[in-house]
Amino acid sequence: MQHTKRRRDGWGSRIGVVLAAAGSAIGLGNFLRFPGVAARNGGGAFMIPYFIAFLLLALPLCWMEWAMGRFGGRQCHGSAPGVFDAVSGRRRPWLKYFGVLGITGALGIFFYYVYIESWTLAYSVFSLTGRYAALDRPEAMGEFLAGYCGGHGPHFSGRGACYGFFLLTFLCNLWVVWHGISRGIERFCKVAMPLLFLTGLVLMLRVFTLGAPVNPAWNLDRALGFLWNPDFAALRNGRVWLEAAGQVFFSTSVGIGVLLTYATYLRSRDDVLLPSTTASLLNEFAEVVLGASIVVPAAYLFFGPQETAQAVAGGTFGLAFRTTPLIFNHMSGGPLIGFLWFLLLFIAGVTSSVSILQPSVAFLEEEFGLSRTRVVAAIGALTFAVAHLVIFGDGVLEEMDFWFSTFGLPLFGLIEALVFLFCFGPDRGWEELHHGSALRLPRAFKFVMATVTPLFLLTILAAWLVTDGWQTILMVQLTDGRLTPRYTASQMPWIVASRLLYLALIAGGCLLIRRAWRRRASAAADA
Ligand code: ALA
Repeated sequence: MQHTKRRRDGWGSRIGVVLAAAGSAIGLGNFLRFPGVAARNGGGAFMIPYFIAFLLLALPLCWMEWAMGRFGGRQCHGSAPGVFDAVSGRRRPWLKYFGVLGITGALGIFFYYVYIESWTLAYSVFSLTGRYAALDRPEAMGEFLAGYCGGHGPHFSGRGACYGFFLLTFLCNLWVVWHGISRGIERFCKVAMPLLFLTGLVLMLRVFTLGAPVNPAWNLDRALGFLWNPDFAALRNGRVWLEAAGQVFFSTSVGIGVLLTYATYLRSRDDVLLPSTTASLLNEFAEVVLGASIVVPAAYLFFGPQETAQAVAGGTFGLAFRTTPLIFNHMSGGPLIGFLWFLLLFIAGVTSSVSILQPSVAFLEEEFGLSRTRVVAAIGALTFAVAHLVIFGDGVLEEMDFWFSTFGLPLFGLIEALVFLFCFGPDRGWEELHHGSALRLPRAFKFVMATVTPLFLLTILAAWLVTDGWQTILMVQLTDGRLTPRYTASQMPWIVASRLLYLALIAGGCLLIRRAWRRRASAAADA
């Protein structure tokens, strides 16, 4: 089959690639999702599966994505279906359909990600204008957040603010994506990433010097122990493993299809090992050192152990919005630092969300030959429409986060690992990974990539299905030997709609893939 040889976009510099990859990885996942997921899974219970998942799943998969992505990019493919087709040497025509999850998963995450991102923009403005400055209790902050999202309560009378910030955030994302890889994403990340690290460090130091603002027993030692004291009993629960894998994947941007797409914009002799490894390590620093040292300890200092774990009941992403403003309210210059912190979270969010759009942008641009403007308009219209489900639907955000991220990323990661193993081949993959690279990986990782990663992922997904998955699928939960409904009656229509949407996206994506390949075949026949 012939390939369209139109000039592809590309990275401008090596440091730009690293910062854009780090920018994709470091985002709301590190500072907002990680604290919520860790607290929900009992803190210390979470960190062992988390680190195992990072070493044995995320890092190897990240290398696989970069190696296969650069290979696919050489054949003018910028998204998972084309990359899988190229990797298989076009001998397995069905393989490209598995790439659909590398497009729809990312798009699905964007639906709710952009909404949370808009909260960070709103909170930066609220911080500066002192809108929450008088609130000094976690419950009051919880009420503030609920009021902001729902447009009711003592602080808000309508959804105007929430909707306005959402629109602004949404347009900002489309604007960056429309500018492309080197002029949009790369340029933006070069400024945003250093600023983010600096503010994160300042805030971490402030948390460490807060003392015990509410209860002498809720001090920093115990706050850090909450996350770092291991709980081996939790290792028996399949859901904790899946949550850990889902979080590591979400946070490192692995299994989303984004790194695969970013790697396609490399030149054939560009190093893949250095940017992928550096970006992953920078991401872990941001998550484990900064993310873990700000929101979770701050939550503990103000809420105490039980309430920190319970505080996430109002939503995985909400924890930071209920705790960090309380730190700012206890600081001199708090409004300004709060403003900077939420603004930088917003920027970190944008560097990630624009990357999340890139697989679908690349797919439509390259497989259908559409102009950037038309692609951005089409994707903008779809994401804008669906985001309303998240804004107005009860429970939709958590539901989408589970299916698109916690479940969807390990699933697509497993598919990638199998494609690497059976289609690319471990020897060719290993060689491709080291081609043009100054680094050499320990050979043990070749074994990990070829054996441990796929088997481990398979085990996690199977363990989840047996211990918790069937209940999630059937929308029930087993409590004290009794099955009870998982959702309230008012949530049910929204939950069903989200699940149907997930399936519709996959079906629609497969139809588009079929159409794109037919189009190519007829263009090749005409040529
Ligand atoms: N990797 C991105 C984040 O952590 C999606 O926010």
